[in-house]
Amino acid sequence: MSTRLDPWGHFAIEDYEKLLVEFGIRPINEVYGLISRLHPYFTRKVVFGHRDFDKWLEDLRAGHKVAVLTGFMPSGRPHLGTAMVYEELKFFQELGAHVKIAIADAEAYVVRREDRRTTILNGVDFIAHAIAWGLDPEKTEFYFQTAMKEEYYRLIQMFSKKITMAEMEAIYGELSPGKIIASLTQAADILHLQLDSYGGFKNILVPVGADQDPHLRLTRDIADRFEGELGLKRPASIYHKLIRGLDGNKMSKSRPEFAIHLDEDEETVRKKFVNALTGGRATAEEQRRLGGEPWKCTVYEVYLYHLIREDEKLKEVYDDCVSGRVLCGECKRKALNLLLERLKNHREKYREVKESNIVEKIVNIPSF
Ligand code: TRP
Ligand code: SF4
Repeated sequence: MSTRLDPWGHFAIEDYEKLLVEFGIRPINEVYGLISRLHPYFTRKVVFGHRDFDKWLEDLRAGHKVAVLTGFMPSGRPHLGTAMVYEELKFFQELGAHVKIAIADAEAYVVRREDRRTTILNGVDFIAHAIAWGLDPEKTEFYFQTAMKEEYYRLIQMFSKKITMAEMEAIYGELSPGKIIASLTQAADILHLQLDSYGGFKNILVPVGADQDPHLRLTRDIADRFEGELGLKRPASIYHKLIRGLDGNKMSKSRPEFAIHLDEDEETVRKKFVNALTGGRATAEEQRRLGGEPWKCTVYEVYLYHLIREDEKLKEVYDDCVSGRVLCGECKRKALNLLLERLKNHREKYREVKESNIVEKIVNIPSF
């Protein structure tokens, strides 16, 4: 059966290997040798696949113009999944790439029917959290889709002329008019940085969750068709696994009870953690005998994606689990303490960012 990725869906992706085979996404390990410094996301296969990332890295190394662009739909509040993207952006910024971030308020409006005021205030918060996570406010460009100028909107109209409904449906399945608009808007997000009015051609890298690949396939087709007219070229992309919610399904802004938000207070995090799905066995006796199954465990996922940077330390958690030496109660408590510490530091930085009004100073915030 063929797989269809749904960028607006609510399901966790079960089998990432299959995406490599079915969609021609390339395995990430083939570019290890091209990166001067590897983030653990690469070696742990959290970022598992790419398209043309090798070419982008070569351009970066050769000193050609490159940029990283991604976007956040400002429905709900940023959570641990959002922070994975912040983490990747920070990594690329430190490597010397220019970083630009779209706040997809137009998308939230047409796809999620979010109230405009809430969307914009959420968008400001996505930016504040990005800065608190460590993105450099002086070097990062942030924008709201609805605050963009005519060159950008003109792209959406031009793109719509060279794409057929059949092509869109082959990529996305059934589509609403709102989703069509959102997809073309995202293509404009990714490609506008190559226009003369936005500084001229540069190789663009898009770091996203694997569910966003349909948008990249569309954008690549569009770039091909506008190479002559506008000088657009295909973007590169890297794909990370989607962190699961504490119930084992996709961590999503629309299911807040299973997500850990970056501004969550301690009590709420504790409560959510109590019921987190683990890879533990039915009884303690059984777990001591058979060991746990970390690959099924949402707590292990939080360790892997956020809590432990050193590979040897992560391996200890893994070994303690599969050998049955450590049981879930203790393991969860340790994860919870690390997480609370992490979130506490983040909250403090976030508060400083909010108090400094830096977002209002550097970003053109649409009125509502
Ligand atoms: N569609 C993305 C999401 O749901 C947000 C987004 C908007 C985006 N524009 C983008 C992602 C450009 C990558 C590149 O999260
Ligand atoms: Fe998860 Fe830890 Fe339990 Fe293993 S011991 S299943 S890693 S909570």
